Amino acid sequence: MTNNTGITIVTGGASGIGLATAAWLLARSRSVLVLDHSEANLESARVALKEYTASAAFAALDVTDEEAMMQVLSSNIPAGTAISGLVNSAGFGTDIPFLETTSKTLRDMLEVNLVGTFVISREVAKRMVGTGGGSIVHISSVSGLIGNKGRSAYGATKAALVNLTQVMSNELARHHIRVNCVCPGPIETPLAAAAHGDAGKLLWEQQVPMKRYGSPKEIANTVGFLLDEESSSYVNGQIISVDGGFIAAGLLPA
Ligand SMILES: NC(=O)c1ccc[n+]([C@@H]2O[C@H](COP(=O)([O-])OP(=O)(O)OC[C@H]3O[C@@H](n4cnc5c(N)ncnc54)[C@H](O)[C@@H]3O)[C@@H](O)[C@H]2O)c1
Repeated sequence: MTNNTGITIVTGGASGIGLATAAWLLARSRSVLVLDHSEANLESARVALKEYTASAAFAALDVTDEEAMMQVLSSNIPAGTAISGLVNSAGFGTDIPFLETTSKTLRDMLEVNLVGTFVISREVAKRMVGTGGGSIVHISSVSGLIGNKGRSAYGATKAALVNLTQVMSNELARHHIRVNCVCPGPIETPLAAAAHGDAGKLLWEQQVPMKRYGSPKEIANTVGFLLDEESSSYVNGQIISVDGGFIAAGLLPA
């Protein structure tokens, strides 16, 4: 039987979707460990979440640094302390035509978006096995489900999270660990502002049936549902788009 009483780790938790998820959890009296590689983002997250200092902890971590990851986990979460949740929100992407995408770009995105998620999930799941289970949520993207232009590298790394979710949910269910995946559409965050630009923003607003970007809070609401044992105790292995109808839509009305 899993529970909501342990700590929840949010990677990339100092900005955008991760920060909104940390705030969602803290507002419901959960303990949260915010991990992020950006000191500047961590500093502003500390300010944004200052009313929750008793239950929020912050640590610098680049999810591609496996050794540092082990150290951060052991120094912030003593052995035997229950970890109820893990949200893998650390990630990045850019909009580049396939013909101009270098193998370095692909490898850099793979390291953060897939390998970082894979390794911390494995280490946290080992801990969850010993403390009664938990809930893991990967943040993929609609670009991991279909062929959005400019997303050959980013989309491939995000598509990999879909299958990772399925295999993990299959293997870990016996340990009372649920694993699900959220695929956001365009969400108002610093990452989207940088990747889309003004022309890209207009295109997204035209292509999404709801004709707008989502807010980080609208993603956090779904991630929170998946983390919450009361709400989603039988939801496992699911890939859920939160995208204003983008993935479902075909030809849009004029
Ligand atoms: N914003 C969107 O439109 C959108 C759409 C689909 C998917 N996503 C995904 O959502 C997740 C969160 O993105 P966001 O829009 O909130 O972006 P964001 O830039 O606001 O937040 C991402 C955070 O992750 C951190 N981060 C990046 N690389 C890291 C690393 N190697 N180690 C630790 N922390 C790292 C950044 O410092 C930042 O604080 C990403 O995985 C992104 O791919 C975003």
